[in-house]
Amino acid sequence: QTKRSTIDRLHPEAELINEGAEWLKAGELVAFPTETVYGLGANALDASACAKIFEAKGRPQDNPLIVHVCNRVMANNLVESWTSEAELCVQHFWPGPLTLILPKTALVPDIVTAGLVNVAIRMPSHPVALRLIEDAGFPIAAPSANLSGKPSPTRGSHVWRDMKGKIPLILDAGACEVGLESTVLDVSGGVPTILRPGGITKEQLEEVLGEVRADTPSENQAPKAPGMKYRHYAPQGELLLVSGLRDRVVQRMGQEILRGQARLKKVGVLCTLESASLLHNWFPDLLFVLGSKDRPQEVASNIFEGLRLCDERRMDLILVEGIEEAGLGSAVMNRLEKAAGKRTQHI
Ligand code: TXA
Ligand code: MG
Repeated sequence: QTKRSTIDRLHPEAELINEGAEWLKAGELVAFPTETVYGLGANALDASACAKIFEAKGRPQDNPLIVHVCNRVMANNLVESWTSEAELCVQHFWPGPLTLILPKTALVPDIVTAGLVNVAIRMPSHPVALRLIEDAGFPIAAPSANLSGKPSPTRGSHVWRDMKGKIPLILDAGACEVGLESTVLDVSGGVPTILRPGGITKEQLEEVLGEVRADTPSENQAPKAPGMKYRHYAPQGELLLVSGLRDRVVQRMGQEILRGQARLKKVGVLCTLESASLLHNWFPDLLFVLGSKDRPQEVASNIFEGLRLCDERRMDLILVEGIEEAGLGSAVMNRLEKAAGKRTQHI
């Protein structure tokens, strides 16, 4: 039996926060909103509670969890030593969509880090998340609250679809602001390295830290964030990612739509506002508008909703328009490329 409670984003009702904290104290799972995506939370200091996360998501055991804290003292208890880069990140980006990789203390159970010596830690800015951690009094381990492999949940309804019947409580505060997961940054030593692009951009990090690398594992090398090696965000249907000059993208999409329909495929299109204005006359019923190409934040906040709609509408050919790989656009394209697999065209 899963209860889904609507909670006020800015002024979370104390009784609901308390109910969530009580379930967590009892070793159960609670789904809660963050500014990035919804998290599936458990007491991070309780190994058997954390084991339930892997079970509910169908998550591989070798994929570690992010630990969420509400203040610096809580973070200090989990981290063995802080580098100067880590300190700068805390000053500039916490609370917010930045996860730091740092050496863990013995307090962090091995199941949380999948046996790694480092822990992933972040202070979210969402009032509901902060209040829940505060009220529980311990850090909360939480991956995104989707079934493993599915697009991350950015609405309470997404969590409901994936988790109903599996957990006692979903705190539903509506849509998440950022809509993409946090940036995962290794600041444990050496040049800070982005293991997963996300809500804080490389450009923002460089402004504060100077040199920042991106982890780009070669063919036979595993990515440093274990989660990055799995198939992700993929809808059931075949997905084709098309990017490039708008006129060419629109022309190619038109061709692919007609070709797909001729093969009796149910076709769907996720595209920018600008391309939608051109495609609308011919294919008004197929389009889901992600947002303006000039506002990557808008696209970021709609992308998982769009990918999830494809499954709900049982689309079997999905054409997605890419956006420019700068700022948040890089994180958006990272997710779309994962969803598309090898089916990516730049024209
Ligand atoms: O925005 C977010 O980060 C959301 C919200 C709920 O906070 N959480 C989230 O968690 O996206 P998850 O589990 O879906 O993704 C965590 C990523 C995975 O790629 C995982 O492999 C990596 O972080 N990660 C976790 N702990 C790590 C560690 N100790 N070392 C390296 N990578 C780690
Ligand atoms: Mg995830």
